[in-house]
Amino acid sequence: MDAQRLDSWKDEMTREVMKAESLTELQTVRHQWLGRKGKITNAMKGLSSLSIEDRRTVGQQLNGIREYALDLFAQREQEMELQEETRQLQEEVYDMTLPGLWPDVGLLHPITRTRRLIEDVFLRMGFSLEYGPEVEDEWYNFEALNIPADHPARDMQDSFFIDLPGMVLRTHTSPVQIRAMKKYDGALPVRILAPGRAFRRDDDATHVPMFFQVEALVIDRGISLADLKGTLNIMAHELLGDGIKTRFRPSYFPFTEPSMEMDVTCASCRGAGCRVCKETGWVEILGSGMVHPQVLKNGGYDPLTVSGFAFGLGIERLTMRIFGIDDLRLLYQNDMEFLSQFQPYTGRPGL
Ligand code: DAH
Repeated sequence: MDAQRLDSWKDEMTREVMKAESLTELQTVRHQWLGRKGKITNAMKGLSSLSIEDRRTVGQQLNGIREYALDLFAQREQEMELQEETRQLQEEVYDMTLPGLWPDVGLLHPITRTRRLIEDVFLRMGFSLEYGPEVEDEWYNFEALNIPADHPARDMQDSFFIDLPGMVLRTHTSPVQIRAMKKYDGALPVRILAPGRAFRRDDDATHVPMFFQVEALVIDRGISLADLKGTLNIMAHELLGDGIKTRFRPSYFPFTEPSMEMDVTCASCRGAGCRVCKETGWVEILGSGMVHPQVLKNGGYDPLTVSGFAFGLGIERLTMRIFGIDDLRLLYQNDMEFLSQFQPYTGRPGL
């Protein structure tokens, strides 16, 4: 171990350090010199075999080399860390002026939006929401509503009967009238709105076997046809705009007497007459009437002291009208291309 050879170590080490291209490579070089079995460490261990004088000079020299090495590695390590940081900063460029990414947000179905609009109108008039089962007792769906088993009115509602005897998929939301009366148990006023699904065995261009209805029932002392017409007119104007006109036609339902249907001005021709409205200028939107005395009795109310009105409407047809949709089936095809057109409209509550 001569002084000259030791002298060349500094250069040798410096060259190796400069050749290292990454921090890991630098660690390897460091290990070769300063590690437990590194050159410098080994040389220091070998000092004991030297004579006293040599031990002193070579020892000093080795100490110098070690100091030099420690500095060299520390410095290079720092430099390389800084370079790495700079490189990363240059690579990861963030353009703060780019527009943000829009998250995909779900939309409410037009039917749901229409239902909420209707609910909103009636909640503001003091109605509460009521719900009934979709698999319904035949008594609630028919008998209690004055539709006996052999009554021809049953034919108007082609029903889905199920294996449970006496049960049916409800053909309308009207059974909730009876359920609500029983729940209110004679209390006044009854003022309820019952949205929900109904089921009938038809399926064509204007009918689907599962559809949505909204039922309303009001019972109190002195309720008259004027209350019914007033309420329906408010609803029509709230939902279809101030320009809308309504008309009432006598009709027949077993559970109301008298019964009437409400028409509104045709959206296509605005009342002039066209194919959609069969040249009449009007389209029917709901059935209604004064609650039949027998129905009041079936619900536990006395027709001699109280009276009431009811109506039922189909949500699909109203949805088509409000959203300008011309084919019922579009509402049930789950076609995102179609549905995503109806962005939330925040101008009105519920939409
Ligand atoms: N339930 C009837 C139907 O589905 C609609 C209806 C008519 C409901 C008159 C009513 C009403 O409450 O008074 O065809």
